Amino acid sequence: MIRGNVLAIETSCDETAAAVIHGRDIRSSVVASQATLHAPYGGVVPEVAARHHLGTVNAVVDRALADAGIGFDDVEAIAVTQRPGLIGALLVGVATAKSLAYARGLPLISVDHIMGHIAAVWLAPLSVDPPFVSLIASGGHTRLDLVRDLGSPELLGQTIDDAAGEALDKGARMLGLEYPGGPALERLSASGRRDAHEFPIALGGADTRDFSFAGVKTSLRYRIQDLGDPDDATRADLAASYQEAIVRPLADRLVDAAREHGVQTVAIGGGVAANGRLRELVEEGAERHGLAVALPDRSLCTDNAAMIGAAAQFTPMTPWPDYLAVDAMPTAPPGGIAA
Ligand code: KG4
Ligand code: ZN
Repeated sequence: MIRGNVLAIETSCDETAAAVIHGRDIRSSVVASQATLHAPYGGVVPEVAARHHLGTVNAVVDRALADAGIGFDDVEAIAVTQRPGLIGALLVGVATAKSLAYARGLPLISVDHIMGHIAAVWLAPLSVDPPFVSLIASGGHTRLDLVRDLGSPELLGQTIDDAAGEALDKGARMLGLEYPGGPALERLSASGRRDAHEFPIALGGADTRDFSFAGVKTSLRYRIQDLGDPDDATRADLAASYQEAIVRPLADRLVDAAREHGVQTVAIGGGVAANGRLRELVEEGAERHGLAVALPDRSLCTDNAAMIGAAAQFTPMTPWPDYLAVDAMPTAPPGGIAA
């Protein structure tokens, strides 16, 4: 474990984030969200995201250091999200981290964003140690991992088409809600009935741990078409039923996987893990089977740099001058993060 302060930077999508981690402690975590900037377009515009990161990242790093009450002299290593994500957005973080590491003579740790989501529960106060089964559900990913070692999670299953967050965002848009759709859909669901509409279960196949959300999404589209111009109560019912069709299989499969592998703890992460109904279902399922459950604070579920600092503890450092060759990558390496 790195004993001193790690300065972590995250710019893979539409949040410019920096944090200072000391062991398991979050000394500071700053997130500048671009959500309102992208809202008029109904989704993240990659070029706009990259340009905005460029204008914001230095101020966000300065704030993270100031909030932690430290200067660069107190930093032991710099961690940065290197993959996967929007290439232009990632490049801003990687170039910033390389420049800072070079200027200060510090080692660089290039981190996989998914490893960050998985490692978020390792941070205090949850302080979860392996083994556990992890569900990561975000706008770009939906996967289950068996985590025996935080440095090499073992992939158990993943989405074969849309990510859960993407399906929630697209469903929200069909129901006339603003971007980002997940939180808006959750708010509308609060006044709807979960059992008002039946949607296909979002599973990739009966005997695999994969997920599929394309069918649920198409089904919502036809349901809205059939209903013509649904009134507010009907829209709330549709939202609640659609949300249930997406989050219930996530919770069920997480709990099933832990039981199958004889693991006593389940954990969740990624933006969709901020969803109240998913959290409730995971808690219920875990309680039913006597499992411990790790539900990170919502601010640690959506994109942030504290989780990148956590994953950095389990990722090899790249020494000078090797890290000058570190490049941003839009996709995970072949075979995924466990390769
Ligand atoms: O992890 P994240 O911040 O960014 C990615 O790496 O994708 O996840 C963003 C996703 C979006 O699809 C957003 O709609 C969803 O997480 N999300 C939610 C909630 N908060 C964010 N989905 C459902 N309920 C929420 N409360
Ligand atoms: Zn993410």
